[in-house]
Amino acid sequence: MTAEVPPGLRDSPEGRELRQALDAVAGSLPELLQDPPDTAAATLLSWTVAAPALRAPAAVLALAALAERPAARPRALELALALAARGQDPAVEPPLHGVRLAPRQTGLDEDVILLGVPQVKLPTRIGLVALDGVRRYFAELHRPRPAQRAIDVGTGSGVLAIVAAKHLRRAGGVEGVWGVDINPWAVLIARANAVLNGEAERTRFLEGDGLGPLDRPDLVGRVDLILSNPPMTIGLPGPPLGPEERFNVIEHPVEFVRRELIGIGVRLLRRPSGRLLFHISGRFPEAQQNLSSVPGFGPKRALLQGLTELDPYVDLRGLVYQELIQDRPYIFLKGYPVEIQPVTATEAHLIRKRGGRIYQQSFVWVYGFDEPALDTSDRPA
Ligand SMILES: C[S@@+](CC[C@H](N)C(=O)[O-])C[C@H]1O[C@@H](n2cnc3c(N)ncnc32)[C@H](O)[C@@H]1O
Repeated sequence: MTAEVPPGLRDSPEGRELRQALDAVAGSLPELLQDPPDTAAATLLSWTVAAPALRAPAAVLALAALAERPAARPRALELALALAARGQDPAVEPPLHGVRLAPRQTGLDEDVILLGVPQVKLPTRIGLVALDGVRRYFAELHRPRPAQRAIDVGTGSGVLAIVAAKHLRRAGGVEGVWGVDINPWAVLIARANAVLNGEAERTRFLEGDGLGPLDRPDLVGRVDLILSNPPMTIGLPGPPLGPEERFNVIEHPVEFVRRELIGIGVRLLRRPSGRLLFHISGRFPEAQQNLSSVPGFGPKRALLQGLTELDPYVDLRGLVYQELIQDRPYIFLKGYPVEIQPVTATEAHLIRKRGGRIYQQSFVWVYGFDEPALDTSDRPA
C-alpha cells in the first residue's frame, strides 16, 4: 500500500493514527482479492484498526491500493460502489460517502466514481454545474494539441481534475493534470479517487494554497487549461457548519480569484491558446470583473448562464427543518442522501429564500487571451 499521509496531517495526532490505520489495512488487502464481493465489502467495513474514526479514509485508501493493480481495478470499483451505497451505515464512522457520475454528466462513456469522507466536499448538485462546464468546454470549445497540461485549483474530491484528464487523454494527449487543495484530506481522497478511476498516472494532487505550489518557472506560459470551482462560502464566525467547511470557508472569495487566478494563473497559461474555466456564483460579479481587467485577457464564452433550477429537487416542503445559527435562521433537509444535502449555509439559505426549492444563479466562464487568427504558440520563434 503506497498511500502517503499528506504533509498537513503528518505531525498531527490524526495523521499518526491514519498511518497506523493504513499499516493495519495493508495486511488485509490480499483478503479483498480472494473473497466474494459481499464478504470483501464486509471485511472493509469491519476492520478494527487502531483508530476506528479513521476507518473510512483507510477503506478509501485500501480500495485505491487495490485499484493500483490493473487486474483488480474492476473489483475495487465494485467494492467502492458497495461501500458508497452504505455511506449512511452507522457502522462506518466517520461515514464514507460516494457519488457515481453517469456518462451523461461527464460526457465520457464510463462512470466516474468518487468517494469521500466528511472532511472532503463531494460535488453537490450545484457543484455539478462546474462539471457540466468542463464537459461542454471539451465538447464545444477545445482544440486538441499534444501533451497538454491542466490544473484544478481547489480540487476537493479531485472530480474536475479526473474528468479533465479523461477528456484530455481522449482529445489527443495529456502530459499531466495537477489538482491543488488546502485541505490535506482532499489531497488524500483525490489521489485515491484518481487511482480508482484509472487516472493516477496522469494526475498529481498537491497540498497548498491556491496556485502557490505550481507557481514555478518551468510552468510559466506552459499550462493549457486552468479549472476552478473556487471556494466561495464566506466563513461565518463561530464553529463551521460541517467538517468539510473547515477548509471550504473563505474570508475573501473575490480576493482569492484575484490573487490566484489573475495573479498567478494568467502567467502560467500558454499564450494565446491557454484557457481558464471557472465556476462562479452570480453573487460575485466582481470576481469576473477583476478578470476582465487583465489586458488582452477576457471572456471567451459563458458556458452556463442565468438561473439554474435544479431538478430533481422539485418540492422540498415538509422535508426541511429550521435551525438558528449565530441567530440567523437556516433551513436544512431531513434525512436526504448526502449528495443533495445543502452543505453550506449559503445553499441552505437559498433553499429558504426560494420556498423549498434549491436555486442558484451560476456561471461557468471560459477566459482566454485575445488570439491572432492563427495559433502559433507551438512554432519555434
Ligand atoms: C467549491 S469546492 C470545489 C471542490 C471540487 N473542485 C468540486 O468542484 O466539487 C472548493 C475547494 O477549494 C478548497 N480550498 C479552499 N481554500 C483553498 C485555498 N486557499 N487553496 C486551495 N484550495 C482551497 C476547498 O478545500 C474545497 O475543496
